[in-house]
Amino acid sequence: MSGFSNKTILITGSTSGLGKALAIGFSRLGAKLILFARNNEKLEKLKLELENANQHIYVIVDIASPKSIQDTFEKLNKKRKYIDLLINSAGSWFPKVTFEEMSDEQIIELVQTNTQGTMLVTKHALSFLKKSSDARVINILSASALSSNFHAVSTVAFAASKWALAGFTETLNEELKEQKIALTNLFPGGFANESSLDTSTEEMKNEYPNMMSLKELFESVVFIASRSYDSNIRSLVIDNR
Ligand SMILES: NC(=O)c1ccc[n+]([C@@H]2O[C@H](COP(=O)([O-])OP(=O)(O)OC[C@H]3O[C@@H](n4cnc5c(N)ncnc54)[C@H](OP(=O)(O)O)[C@@H]3O)[C@@H](O)[C@H]2O)c1
Repeated sequence: MSGFSNKTILITGSTSGLGKALAIGFSRLGAKLILFARNNEKLEKLKLELENANQHIYVIVDIASPKSIQDTFEKLNKKRKYIDLLINSAGSWFPKVTFEEMSDEQIIELVQTNTQGTMLVTKHALSFLKKSSDARVINILSASALSSNFHAVSTVAFAASKWALAGFTETLNEELKEQKIALTNLFPGGFANESSLDTSTEEMKNEYPNMMSLKELFESVVFIASRSYDSNIRSLVIDNR
């Protein structure tokens, strides 16, 4: 994928943290966005920060609900014919407790949002991705989904929900070779999800020590998305130091 002007990009979890930074960043690069979010109020606020706000599509969808995803893609069919890039950034997280201390509802929420939700959004996006000549999927995982790097602030259920996604991305990558759709697992360490896209890691070091900036993460996503199909980055780990 070279240049993002007029590329159609679907971003989940677009009203907060990385998803929001990606929405603002890619709007500045001229992309046409399809923005998935749960909360209309946050979506209205986001619109004020986007370039060319009128050319994007805004969708309220709960990715933990299969019905909500199915209805969303049925409606999308009437508005857009293809998607060039899908970025699955929506995710649920709980502060660290032991696995036994987590409620059943918390474990179910993590699996339904992070794993099931991402898989179903990707499944329903496939018919749109297949119509692009340059299609790509980037799944935002976590450094805690690496055996070498079980992250201190993550719960077992969170890490497992992302671990499952890593396998999903790898196997789907193989299955979609014929269709030339490239998939990437991005494993970020901790980042300051309340920082701004315009703040560098150096500038935010005092407020959020040992966290990477949304600016750096956005630049990494742009780098992945700019590769050609023949030099796809299957997996990228970005560590905290
Ligand atoms: N922050 C970190 O340090 C870190 C580190 C490693 C990986 N990650 C991963 O990176 C991604 C982005 O993280 P972040 O910290 O930027 O997240 P965040 O600020 O917590 O934002 C998460 C987004 O996902 C949306 N979302 C959650 N559940 C949803 C559902 N059921 N249906 C639709 N949307 C839903 C949220 O919507 P609402 O605003 O409506 O809640 C929000 O827009 C996540 O996948 C996360 O697991 C984060």
